[in-house]
Amino acid sequence: MGPNLNEGRYSPGRCARDIYAVVEAYPGDMPAAQREVVPALQRLAREKNLLDMGLPRESNHAVDGSWLYWDSEIGIFTVKFPHDVVVPVHNHGTWEIVGVDEGELDYQSYRRLDDGSREGYAELEVVENRVLGPGDFSVVPLPPHDIHGFRAHKGDMWMIGVVHGDFDEERLYFDPDGRSYVRRHQKAWRRSLDR
Ligand SMILES: [Fe+2]
Repeated sequence: MGPNLNEGRYSPGRCARDIYAVVEAYPGDMPAAQREVVPALQRLAREKNLLDMGLPRESNHAVDGSWLYWDSEIGIFTVKFPHDVVVPVHNHGTWEIVGVDEGELDYQSYRRLDDGSREGYAELEVVENRVLGPGDFSVVPLPPHDIHGFRAHKGDMWMIGVVHGDFDEERLYFDPDGRSYVRRHQKAWRRSLDR
């Protein structure tokens, strides 16, 4: 029996416990587990005061946001993307699920087609290309297909995400049309904007 998502207040801690229950129910099948995690995040996104709680979190691309939950394995966060910031296509080194709490997100995710053996070269195929609204979530799969890019759509937006494990210190920033990538420290892009 799955968790009862309709009863009472749904705190980030409760969401994390439900995420663990799902992950443990699908041993060795993280893609299936990820799909089952989405309803828990959608339930969390319906809570009214998420943007007023949490502890400060330094985002790699954004200007504001919090850890709603963190225990070194699972982290649930909010993050604000201003309307004028285009987040370039990048990977993470771990899986993630991202969605919208407020606003809209113009979102693309990619699958990597080459075998990664040629430094600086990458062939990417678009998997998703859509606008996410409040309560919509997208699964960022396991590496090497943990690749997405996005921008806020028609105004500022607040994202909710869950990350499994730490992001890699170094990440890849892709040019899908140019079939190339550069390696950067995970904080380098944001620091380059002086935010
Ligand atoms: Fe990302």
